[in-house]
Amino acid sequence: MIKLSDILYESTTVEDDELDEANYPAEFDQKVFDPLSLPQKAKYARKHLKYIAKGSSRIVLEIDQETVLKIAMNRAGVQQNSTEADISRFYPQITAKVFEVSPSYDWIEMEKAKPARSADFLAATGLPSGLFFEFLDKYISKILLGREPLFASESHKKLFDEFTKTDLAEKVLDVVENHDLLKGDIVRPTAWGVVTRDGSPYLVLIDYGITNADYDFYYRSKRNLNRQF
Ligand SMILES: Nc1ncnc2c1ncn2[C@@H]1O[C@H](COP(=O)(O)OP(=O)(O)O)[C@@H](O)[C@H]1O
Ligand SMILES: [Mg+2]
Repeated sequence: MIKLSDILYESTTVEDDELDEANYPAEFDQKVFDPLSLPQKAKYARKHLKYIAKGSSRIVLEIDQETVLKIAMNRAGVQQNSTEADISRFYPQITAKVFEVSPSYDWIEMEKAKPARSADFLAATGLPSGLFFEFLDKYISKILLGREPLFASESHKKLFDEFTKTDLAEKVLDVVENHDLLKGDIVRPTAWGVVTRDGSPYLVLIDYGITNADYDFYYRSKRNLNRQF
């Protein structure tokens, strides 16, 4: 006998799948891709998906209009994928969302963003990007490192005080503190991108995977980048 709950459950799953799943081009075969080593994964993806960019430890390709694939090129990339997957669940308001994660963190599927330009920072924060990053840096340094900021004028300080009361500033401070993120990685324009939320441009972090501990371990000396653990 078919239970009503089965029918309901099935119909919602189908609907969810249609809404949530990234649309890979037909040539991209997950069954072929998944068992491959990291270098082979990058090679396979470059062959079947549109290349976007490479970072310090991941290669990024377009899956469809809304989604990118971030593939680790080394251990640090695996670690960054894991950190971003973790963070995105708790901070969807300030991060490009992570939709899917491979069990090994070899790859993640992430909300596709355009690079953030000066006008995007101005539209999202009311501040020119230079001032936005100056204030973000000062705010994180003040609260987490106890460094009192210096200001050129009273109006400069007033703007800073207003900035610290915004949701964006609060949330970024929160994520940097709770996940021990490397400040220098967040306080730079290329860590940010613009996604579309509810039909409008929306500023988010797109590169938020390096903690201070990971930076020390993987990047200070490149020795650990490709080691097997
Ligand atoms: N969500 C995204 N949407 C579109 N492009 C992205 C996205 N995430 C990263 N990129 C692009 O890929 C580049 C490398 O990604 P990044 O996260 O910086 O990798 P890594 O942390 O290994 O340096 C970025 O500089 C950016 O150009
Ligand atoms: Mg990067």
